[in-house]
Amino acid sequence: MNDELVIALSKGRIYRETLPFLKQAGIEPVDDPETSRKLILRTTHDDVKLLVIRATDVPCYVEYGAADVGVAGKDVLLEQSGGNLYEPVDMGIARCRLMVAAPVGSDLSGRKRLKVATKFVRSAQRHFAARGQQVDIIKLYGSMELAPLVGLADCIVDLVDTGGTLKANGLAPVEHIADISSRLIVNKASMKLKRERVHRLIDKFAAVAESREAA
Ligand code: ATP
Ligand code: PRP
Repeated sequence: MNDELVIALSKGRIYRETLPFLKQAGIEPVDDPETSRKLILRTTHDDVKLLVIRATDVPCYVEYGAADVGVAGKDVLLEQSGGNLYEPVDMGIARCRLMVAAPVGSDLSGRKRLKVATKFVRSAQRHFAARGQQVDIIKLYGSMELAPLVGLADCIVDLVDTGGTLKANGLAPVEHIADISSRLIVNKASMKLKRERVHRLIDKFAAVAESREAA
C-alpha cells in the first residue's frame, strides 16, 4: 500500500495560516511556494508531500484521492456539488463572512428581480431562493465589487472580512449569508486505508484549533 500522505493547500492566506498546524503535527515544508515554481513541495518527512493548487481546486483533488487531505474554505466547500469527502476539523483560520452587498444608499427591497454578480453561484441561488427573491445570477471570477458600479448587477455576493474592499468601492453589506472559515477535509478512502496517519493529523489539527479558540 502507498503510505505517502499528500496534503492539498492553496497558496497565500490558507498556506500561511496552515503552517502552524502542520508544524504542530511535525511537518515542515522544505520548499517555499512563494519563491519556488514547484507544485509538489517536499517536507521534512520524505513520505509527506504538499500540493500547492488553486483554492477552488482543493476539494476536487481530495475528493478524487489525488490528495489524502486538504484545507479549503467553507465558501469553496459550499459551492461543491458532491460533498463526497469528510470535513472533520473547523480550523478557524481565514475567517470571513459571505454577504450580499450593494451600493451605499440603494434600496433593493420590493424589486421583483435582482441582478446578482458573484463567483458563489450555488450559495447565492440557495440564499435568494430561501427568501423567495427572484434573481438573475451573473457568474464572475473575481473583483465582484466592480459589477454594481458599472451597471452589470444590482448587488453582489462576496466574502467580507474588514469591509475595507466594500467601503473603498462605495458598497455596503446588506445581508449575512454565512460565517466562513477553513476546514481540514479528508478523502473517504484515505480515512479508512491510511487510518492511523490521517487520524493523527486530524487530532493534531483539532488540538491546535481548540487551543486557539480557547486563547
Ligand atoms: P482562487 O485562487 O481559486 O481564486 P482565492 O483567490 O479566493 O482563490 P484566497 O484569496 O487565498 O484564494 O482565499 C482562500 C480562502 O480564504 C477563501 O476560500 C476564503 O475561505 C478565505 N478568504 C478569502 N478572502 C478572505 C479575506 N479577505 N479574509 C479572510 N479570509 C478570506
Ligand atoms: C477577498 C474578497 C474581498 C476581500 C474582502 O479578496 O473577495 O474582495 O477579500 O476583504 P475585506 O473585507 O477585508 O476588504 P482577496 O483579498 O482574497 O482577493 P481575491 O478575491 O482577488 O483573491
